[in-house]
Amino acid sequence: MTDFSKNEIIDLLKDDSQNDWLFSLADKVRKENVGEEVHLRGLIEFSNICKCMCKYCGLRCENSYAERYRISPSSIISTAQKACNAGYKTIVLQSGEDKFFSQKIMSEIISEIKKFDTAVTLSIGERSFDDYKAFKDSGADRYLIRIETTDKDLYKKMHPNMSFENRVRCLKDLRTLGYEVGTGCLVGLPEQTIESLASDILFFKEINADMVGIGPFIAHPQTPLKNCKNGDFTLALKVMALTRIMLKNINIPATTAMETLNPDGRLIALQCGANVVMPNVTDLNYCEKYDIYPNKAHLDYDISHSRKVIEDKLKTIGRTIAKDYGFRK
Ligand code: 5AD
Repeated sequence: MTDFSKNEIIDLLKDDSQNDWLFSLADKVRKENVGEEVHLRGLIEFSNICKCMCKYCGLRCENSYAERYRISPSSIISTAQKACNAGYKTIVLQSGEDKFFSQKIMSEIISEIKKFDTAVTLSIGERSFDDYKAFKDSGADRYLIRIETTDKDLYKKMHPNMSFENRVRCLKDLRTLGYEVGTGCLVGLPEQTIESLASDILFFKEINADMVGIGPFIAHPQTPLKNCKNGDFTLALKVMALTRIMLKNINIPATTAMETLNPDGRLIALQCGANVVMPNVTDLNYCEKYDIYPNKAHLDYDISHSRKVIEDKLKTIGRTIAKDYGFRK
């Protein structure tokens, strides 16, 4: 019995007395379906310029306090090369929705990085079918675009000038084009209900997501949500654990937002269903400016040293770093 109805999910999310059982079941399902290896993905946050106005996000275009940067294509490629030399088998290219990175420029970056024997994941927001196709043709393997919330009213309030329907269109286009598709949600947005979190989990199952990233909402002081309270770490962990139990063999990251709210957040998440970590390999001075939410957790070391630190941490919980590209099993 590892498939829950919506009502069962809601009950489990509301009742904390079953947490230990839930977390150990998620850990068991993780172990049986994706094993003890942890996939590391080298994350490059290459531009914090964004045309969107997402209410929760520090990169929203109306935040005039943000120090904007854009890493040049040649530096993005050389950072990716360094990460690959350090052993990374996936490079994740993430940015705000920055028009500078046109179809042509992105495609060139992707095809250069593909020469380093690595999988490439994109996380650059809503684009046209044509753009997604060009990126796939250039060698991109995976795409991350969180649905953020499946509560359509809340979606509308949180994302001025955007539409839930277009978000879903993006996910469908990516699937049609043969990407591994990653999505996910925020936990603890103002006015978000437990019922809608249960719908989020069922949505991941319905679209058969290959990867799901779940993180607590963290209030950013230069956004309209600055006075809202942060999401709850344990609730985010429970949404993640239920996602593991329901989708079984997918890839689930222990997210940076979890580590930000709890100093052991990532190790805890890895023992409650997660099997992926996305260390930041962006130059430190940019990494700090990629200020989606405050106090974003990161290591103050160079690419190889931080990899070693992570490897040692993983050993303490009996886990090893995978050597393959880490596609869905
Ligand atoms: N707190 C937590 N996560 C956030 N994100 C954006 N802003 C915040 C915030 N304030 C998440 C979104 C996005 C991902 C890249 O970062 O879910 O998809």
